Amino acid sequence: MDQTVEGKIYVNGDFQECCIGITDGKISNIKKILKGDKHYKFDHKLILPAGIDIHVHFRDPGMKNKEDFSTGSMAAAFGGISCVFDMPNTNPQTTNLQALSDKIALAKKKSFIDFGLYAGVIDDNIKQISNLKKLCSGFKVYIGGTTNSLQLDPIYLNQVFKNISSTNKPVLIHAEDDACLNKHKIIENNLADHFSSRPSICEEKAIRSVIEAANGVDLKVHICHLSSSIGLELLKNRTKNITCGVTPHHLFFNIENSMRNQVFYKVNPPIRTNFDRDILSNSIKNGLIDIIESDHAPHTVEEKNVEFDSAPSGIPGVETIFPLFLYLVKDGKLPFSRLLYSLCEKPAEILNIPKGKLEVGKDADFIVVDFKKVCKIKSERLHYKCEWSPFEKWPAIFPIHVFIRGEKLIEDQEMLGKKGFGRFVGV
Ligand code: DOR
Ligand code: ZN
Repeated sequence: MDQTVEGKIYVNGDFQECCIGITDGKISNIKKILKGDKHYKFDHKLILPAGIDIHVHFRDPGMKNKEDFSTGSMAAAFGGISCVFDMPNTNPQTTNLQALSDKIALAKKKSFIDFGLYAGVIDDNIKQISNLKKLCSGFKVYIGGTTNSLQLDPIYLNQVFKNISSTNKPVLIHAEDDACLNKHKIIENNLADHFSSRPSICEEKAIRSVIEAANGVDLKVHICHLSSSIGLELLKNRTKNITCGVTPHHLFFNIENSMRNQVFYKVNPPIRTNFDRDILSNSIKNGLIDIIESDHAPHTVEEKNVEFDSAPSGIPGVETIFPLFLYLVKDGKLPFSRLLYSLCEKPAEILNIPKGKLEVGKDADFIVVDFKKVCKIKSERLHYKCEWSPFEKWPAIFPIHVFIRGEKLIEDQEMLGKKGFGRFVGV
């Protein structure tokens, strides 16, 4: 055993005073007492699996003024995330083998943490899906138009699903129906207008098309960033191969709460009513929603600070997702088990990677947390290139140390890790 870690560790769904043994970056043993070549003992701390964020936009290549793979992955690491999955709406878009292999190469050089990449599916590359399958970690389909999006006409959904089927790779869906969005589009001056422009029925309509198209096809479908109660209603009786996720911003914000600088909360799907927010919030507690995902979609302050109607949609969040929810747990609003299932275990299962749980055979990815150390989020202390966060001043608990594959990446909230440490996963 190269290393052993001793402390109050979350194993088998509960905290135990025990040790984990690590060999070649993997957990090789879990026992009451273990002593490896190197021994870490963390007193009065909690040791938890690191988080997995299956939905980030690191903007690399092509939009590096907003973020790049090194700043994005560094921010993720400081937030206790050991692995991210990056979306295809970069420039060029990752809709062909060349763009995908170029992005893998650049991310391998720049990433502080492990990563996977999605291939985007558009009307023109449906026939190339079997080739793309060999290189991507999963697929992304946008049914409706959004910032920098690539789009698929829903008439092709069933064909796309059939072409993707029989792999363990999921297809992730941005579920807002384009025809419905076009019908409701109005000139927008604030968040309430944005919500009217992109009503919940557009989400419902898109989810309905997805359920129909997936019927009888052997594949994993994930509905991203669920935002409406009627969308969730449709998913209540879904088959087991359909999962859904929710973002922190849809769980924490609503349009009735009049925020200042509303354009900074402009996002797709939109922030909805407190009723929707409440239902989503209960559903992460009762397990109706499978996972949480940040949909980290940074834009610069200058890009956001324009007329509401022409501002890009998107909110940064990869660094704050785990710390915000750790605080919710401390505050008694969410049990540990639900958080660690929905941000660690289940995302790993969806992407089919050996992470997300502290058990023998998994990667030794874990964070060390001092549960007494609550702080207020300050944008200037975050690591995003865009330098802002909608969660400014929100209470949060950031990890003190972060380990990935047994390597100490962050020690006492300082980065020890190096660019290029991150590995490509999920193929
Ligand atoms: O608000 C959004 N921003 N929604 C998306 O689907 C795309 C994202 C972006 O890339 O900026
Ligand atoms: Zn997204």
